Amino acid sequence: MKAFRNCSSTLSYVVLVMSLFMPKTLSAYPNGVASRTLKTSLSGCGSCHGSSASSSVIVTITGPDTVIAGQAYTYTINVAGGSGTTGGINIATSRGQLDSISTFLKRASGELVHKQKVAVPSTYQFLYTAPASSGSDTIFATAKGAGFNSWNWMPNKNLVVLLLTSVAEAKPFPTGYSLLQNFPNPFNPITRIQYFISQSKPVELKIYDINGHEIAKLVNEVQQPGDYTVEWDANNVASGMYFYRLTVGNYTETKKMILTR
Ligand code: HEC
Repeated sequence: MKAFRNCSSTLSYVVLVMSLFMPKTLSAYPNGVASRTLKTSLSGCGSCHGSSASSSVIVTITGPDTVIAGQAYTYTINVAGGSGTTGGINIATSRGQLDSISTFLKRASGELVHKQKVAVPSTYQFLYTAPASSGSDTIFATAKGAGFNSWNWMPNKNLVVLLLTSVAEAKPFPTGYSLLQNFPNPFNPITRIQYFISQSKPVELKIYDINGHEIAKLVNEVQQPGDYTVEWDANNVASGMYFYRLTVGNYTETKKMILTR
């Protein structure tokens, strides 16, 4: 019994010595800590910033759920809650590439981390570039809210990565062309797609399913300048997300729509 007690006090001594040295070598500030996301670690920002996640810290992400292979998108993570004034973050993906937009984020080991303390509530903006092949991807994050012992996971953001095989490089529409959001959306089973072209050009309007397979060709002809409205009757296709892609000459634009039965 005595030996046991000695052993545990030796252990606490070691832990004490370790914790005295830790801040110098492992401090998250000013460099941030990578490899602490749900993907790479089970302990998150814990062990240093409180041993378990704190439900008072709320980490949320906004940005598209469906992305096209190889294209870049902007995402925003918000962190709220905790007591105190500053926090930080670690963001990673399974496959896609991350780049900072917010100046207080930087890349480390392919992940993004804060490079300075950030006031809470915090807004982190970054660029996500989808992988070159289709499938799925996930964005992971762990963030510290205000207060040294308050951190939490962000619910994983699951993405669908589409490959639009039949289309070469997508250039955004110049002014003088536009593709509007379909209406109604979500729809069942008929929706209308409206677009405008300012020059006579070959026009194609196609529908793709979530795997990037073409399932309908609604327009395929040279059209005169003007406003066009095309109806799509999705009577014999399954519920789910679909894409409509308008190509006018060298330009192409894609939007998504949802069929709910
Ligand atoms: C290995 C221990 C350790 C881990 C893991 C760790 N930190 Fe820290 N962190 C520290 C220490 C120690 C300090 C205090 C540094 C100082 O005061 O110089 C600190 C300070 C900070 C600060 C600045 C102080 C504040 O309260 O705002 C931020 C922000 C921060 N950490 C974010 C994170 C985030 C986000 C994670 C997880 C991705 C993380 N840390 C993981 C040890 C750690």
